[in-house]
Amino acid sequence: MNEVLLQTRDLGVEFAVSGGAVHAVRGVDIDVRRGEVVGIVGESGSGKSATMLALLGLLAPNAKVHGSASFNGIEMIGAPHEQLRALRGGRIGMVFQDPMTSLNPVLTVGRQIAEAIEVHQPTLRPKRVMARVQELLEVVAIPNASERMRAYPHELSGGMRQRVMIAMAVANDPELIIADEPTTALDVTIQAQILTVLADLRSRTNSALVIITHDLGVVAGVADRVNVMYAGRVVERGPVEELFYRNQHPYTAGLLACLPRLDTRGRDLEPIGGAPPLLDHLPKGCAFVSRCKVAEPRCHDVDPQLRDVGTVSVACHVAPAATSAMKAMKAVDA
Ligand SMILES: Nc1ncnc2c1ncn2[C@@H]1O[C@H](COP(=O)(O)OP(=O)(O)OP(=O)(O)O)[C@@H](O)[C@H]1O
Ligand code: SF4
Ligand SMILES: [Mg+2]
Repeated sequence: MNEVLLQTRDLGVEFAVSGGAVHAVRGVDIDVRRGEVVGIVGESGSGKSATMLALLGLLAPNAKVHGSASFNGIEMIGAPHEQLRALRGGRIGMVFQDPMTSLNPVLTVGRQIAEAIEVHQPTLRPKRVMARVQELLEVVAIPNASERMRAYPHELSGGMRQRVMIAMAVANDPELIIADEPTTALDVTIQAQILTVLADLRSRTNSALVIITHDLGVVAGVADRVNVMYAGRVVERGPVEELFYRNQHPYTAGLLACLPRLDTRGRDLEPIGGAPPLLDHLPKGCAFVSRCKVAEPRCHDVDPQLRDVGTVSVACHVAPAATSAMKAMKAVDA
């Protein structure tokens, strides 16, 4: 087993808001090993971005972070700004959620990638920097790289801009790449190309890759292990195959039921009813209780903790019986 590169323990994020606090991340433990691809999946607002931004020291000023996040043994929570700045864009490359707002509209994409290199390798000669920029654009499969490096972000398609963001993230050969929704807003063909670029980069450099997405389908083909987040918690985690075929949490089962799949062709996709709880007014027990078809009385009172059930870890009182109960209900409905 490869060594653990990134490890979060009891990581928490609260945002101070008028009249209280938004509990955006609640005791998250995530391990990422060298060379592996880890997916973080959940609905909008489940705390996926906040988890990763917390360890990089990039949250809004109203955030309070607690717990631990160590990268290669270096504690990142509470680390000096200089230390975090050196890690970001250096040993840790980040592809941010929205490429249009993350790229500077008045600089060519080549200049922006060059700056990402120069910050971390200030002694590199300008010619070498530009050669590296061209090489990076070629690595992320941008055609006519030598011309495209002179383009401004608005002159490129969404897919091309996303490739530029990836080129910037990997400019300094990071050991860890964090890609936040790298394929959202792209059509499916381009999505597949971007995922291939990321997976190729990972295997070429033996870096680790964290893919954050709301779409379980995105991680299906590329991730080794997946963490499913709900209302700031990891509610289920395990190897990707186990999560798809032997999941134990009703929320994971619900996410899968929303996915178009070849083996369910002809059947209606079933959205998960209801909405996630407000993170400044969380229920006392399980955060999923208002949407859960198999909830029991104890679910309203006691918040379930992650525990191993078979080949996955799951935070549900009723697991392993929960998903079979859901299947039985479906059979009755049909
Ligand atoms: N600065 C802030 N102040 C208050 N609440 C915030 C702040 N930033 C984020 N939040 C809240 O924290 C929660 C988690 O946000 P986060 O951005 O991590 O969600 P996410 O899972 O990445 O969602 P998405 O899929 O939409 O990107 C959300 O409820 C969000 O509204
Ligand atoms: S703990 Fe209860 S409410 Fe929560 S997911 Fe499991 S069965 Fe549903
Ligand atoms: Mg996000």
